[in-house]
This record gives sequence, structure tokens and C-alpha cells, in this order.
Amino acid sequence: RTMRARMAVQSSNAISVAPILTGLKNDCATPLPVLRHVADEMTADMRAGLAIDGGSELKMILSYVDSLPSGNEKGLFYALDLGGTNFRVLRVQLGGKDERVIATEFEQVSIPQELMFGTSEELFDFIANGLAKFAEKEGGKFHIPQGRKREIGFTFSFPVKQISIDSGILIKWTKGFAVSGTAGKDVVACLNEAMERRGLDMRVSALVNDTVGTLAGARYWDDDVMVAVILGTGTNACYVERMDAIPKLQGHVSPSARTIINTEWGAFSKGLPLTKFDKDMDAASINPGEQIFEKTISGMYLGEIVRRVLYKMAEAGALFGDSNSDKLSKPFVLGTPDLCAMQQDNSENLEVVGSILSDVVGVKLYCHCMVKSDLTARKMVVDVCDTIVKRGGRLAGAGIVGILHKMEEDSRGLIFGKRTVVAMDGGLYEHYPQYRSYLCDAVTELLGVEKSKNLVIEHTKDGSGIGAALLAATNSKYGHDF
Ligand code: GLC
Repeated sequence: RTMRARMAVQSSNAISVAPILTGLKNDCATPLPVLRHVADEMTADMRAGLAIDGGSELKMILSYVDSLPSGNEKGLFYALDLGGTNFRVLRVQLGGKDERVIATEFEQVSIPQELMFGTSEELFDFIANGLAKFAEKEGGKFHIPQGRKREIGFTFSFPVKQISIDSGILIKWTKGFAVSGTAGKDVVACLNEAMERRGLDMRVSALVNDTVGTLAGARYWDDDVMVAVILGTGTNACYVERMDAIPKLQGHVSPSARTIINTEWGAFSKGLPLTKFDKDMDAASINPGEQIFEKTISGMYLGEIVRRVLYKMAEAGALFGDSNSDKLSKPFVLGTPDLCAMQQDNSENLEVVGSILSDVVGVKLYCHCMVKSDLTARKMVVDVCDTIVKRGGRLAGAGIVGILHKMEEDSRGLIFGKRTVVAMDGGLYEHYPQYRSYLCDAVTELLGVEKSKNLVIEHTKDGSGIGAALLAATNSKYGHDF
């Protein structure tokens, strides 16, 4: 085609795709009343989930963590972390109040795709194998305890019905995992069997969700940490709750007055501004109707929502000129890191956007002859990313405020009347500056300047690994005598 013909095609396209973008922005809008409503529904769902088992979409799972790390923990502990795209093993030498963390070492491997769809044995054999190889390299700064098993804090980031601090039954897989034969089983028993098959003699002392590990890890350094939130592949939050504010416990005698509740807020769905793209993505997912909040705000899905919008635009109005958009029809070709890279593009012609579109998505926006409409299309792509990321960040902020309100209502002044820390972890929060600032803006808008003053939202790197090891120490079979 001649350049004139291309320009003609593209400028007519710009007109036909514009209404899609306008519609998307309307459907994704999160003005203050929408955020308020979401925060209120979150608070109400938390209460309903605490009242009775199955009382709400939020499972409000009891963690059986009765005491948080004090700083006195000592000895060599391991942590295992399974929950998203990566599997991690870690060892830490704890030195008590004065020395704290003397040494740490960790290894990380990505989970082979086929294991996410394989059998339970295959997955746990893979974990036990990774752990065994890592444990063989122990030495150096690590003091090997004599006559004791190595103890592990096992971070397993899926909904688990805890039975005790060191056992729990998998309720269901989330985040794209579809391993057969694990749901309904005790995941610690699954790991123990795999360790036995591998001839590895270690003991799980604490089974924790990643949010709980993050809270424990952050609390080790800062007593004001009351909430932990994960925003990564998936999303979830936990917080410190009073035992007497958990009606469903009825008569359960606990040695302590407080515990940690794992909300499993990914399953929340009330009052969310959803679009046709979200509904189509949900319907095509391996868990339709489930994890709606997670599908709207977390890293696994943001790229996919944007891909669906762009594909629709490409189909409807040939947003990308006469480029072939076949590649764009494939689910999950566009990842959230791609959105992030496109949103950081400050170049005049949006070169990064252009190259991501041609590399990842296979559409060429006539990079060789920069015409105005080409840049218009690239800007539109960035606008779509921003719309989806803004909605995600702001809704995450509303979720956090929902939790804080619940805590404040039950303990007048204990949340907003003093310094309160929300510990954050996860790649989405860590690496996506726009997401982060949309989240913080929403929290401030909802709370108002006065209440926000005492609130600290803090990124805790690797909180969950060290946190799980700390909880293994707190719950050590060998007590606290080292
Ligand atoms: C999913 C899991 C949840 C986990 C979260 C973050 O929502 O169900 O247990 O905490 O992802 O990893």
C-alpha cells in the first residue's frame, strides 16, 4: 500500500476504535463512591466470614499463628515457598535479639508449566527434590544442629483450611494451577511423603500462607505491622485479629488473645466495576466464577485483560492498520510486565510500545515511516493499559481500607489513632510504579489526609520467606532452647 492509503486506513480506524476506549473507561471508572462501596462490602464480607464457616465469599481462614516472632528466635531454619511462577528454598541462621539474621541463602527456580497441570506426586517430588539439593549445600556460616531434624516453614500460597499450625487441607487451586489429586488433602502430608520418597529427613513446623509469612517477617522488625498484602501473580491479605472477634471459633480455647486471619480476598466480588472483557476472560478461565477480585487486580490477569481489549479494537477497527493480529488472539501473550514496560516509555514516538507490540503481539505499526496515526494508535494502547492498571490499583487500595475499617470499628483508635503499618509484597506492587501510586492515591482519598497520616504502606522484600522460617522457629518442636 502507499503511505497515503495507509494513513487513510489508520485515521478511519482511529475513529472506529475510539468508542471502545471511551466505553472501557466508563466501565472501569473508580470514582470515590465506587471505592467506598467496595471498601464497605469488603468490611461486611469479612464480618460474615468470621461469623460462620462459609458465611461469605471471604473464607477468613484461621492461621493458627498464636504468637508472632519476637526477635528472640535462634538457630538454623529452612523455608519453602510455593505459590506463583517461582518456587523458592531458603535457609536462615537466626541469632536472637542482638544478632537477628546472621546469614541467609536462597535458590529460586521457575515452575515448569507442565507441573502446574500434572499430578500431585509430580509437583511435590519436584519440591522435595529442589529442597534436597539445596539442603546438601548447607555449611559455612550455618550452624548445623546436632541430633535434630532441620525444621521448615512451608509457605503454600493457595487457600488451605488449616487444621493446626503444621497441617492444612487444600481447598482449591488458584492462579492457573490445576494439579490433580491435591484438593482435599493435607499438603504437609503430601510434602512429607515426597520427602520420604527422596530420603530427606526434615520436618514442617509451620504451614503458612504467603500473606501470613509476610506479616510475620515484617513484624519481626516492626511491632506496628497489622496487615499484610500480596500483589503479585495473585492477590490476598491477612491481618491481626482479636480471638474474641471471631464468632465462628465458639469455645475454641487459645493460648493467646490474638491471631492472624488469612482473608483470601481474591475471592471477593461485590460492587466491582467489571467489563465484558473481564467476564469473557473469567468464562474462559480454568476457574470460572471464582477469584473475581484477583482476576481484576492481580498480575496474572492485567495483561490478559488488556490483550482482550486490544484484540477487540484490532478486530473492530483494525487499530493496527493492516497488520495481522493473529498472535494477539492468543490468551496470555501479553504479560503484565509488558504493560509496565509500555507505561514507562517516555520516548517521543513511544518506541518501546512499538517494539513490544511488534515483538510480543506481532503487530507492526509502520515503525519505518512514522505517521501521526501510528503514534495515535500507540498512545491508545498505553491508554488502555493505564485504564486497566488504574482500576486494579485503586480497587486494591479500597480493599485495604475495607480491612482497616473493620479493625478500627472493633478497636476504636487502635488503627488510626497510632502508627499502623501495612506490609506489602509481590512483583506487581514492587515493579509497577503506576499501580503503586494509584493504590496509594485511593487509600488517601478514602481515608482522608488526617487518618492517612498514621498509616504506613511499606514494601517488605522477601518478607514471606524469612517470615515462614521465623514461624518455624516460633513453633519449633524443640522449643526455644538452643
Ligand atoms: C491466591 C491464593 C492465596 C495467595 C494469593 C497471593 O489468591 O489463593 O492463598 O495468598 O494468591 O499469592
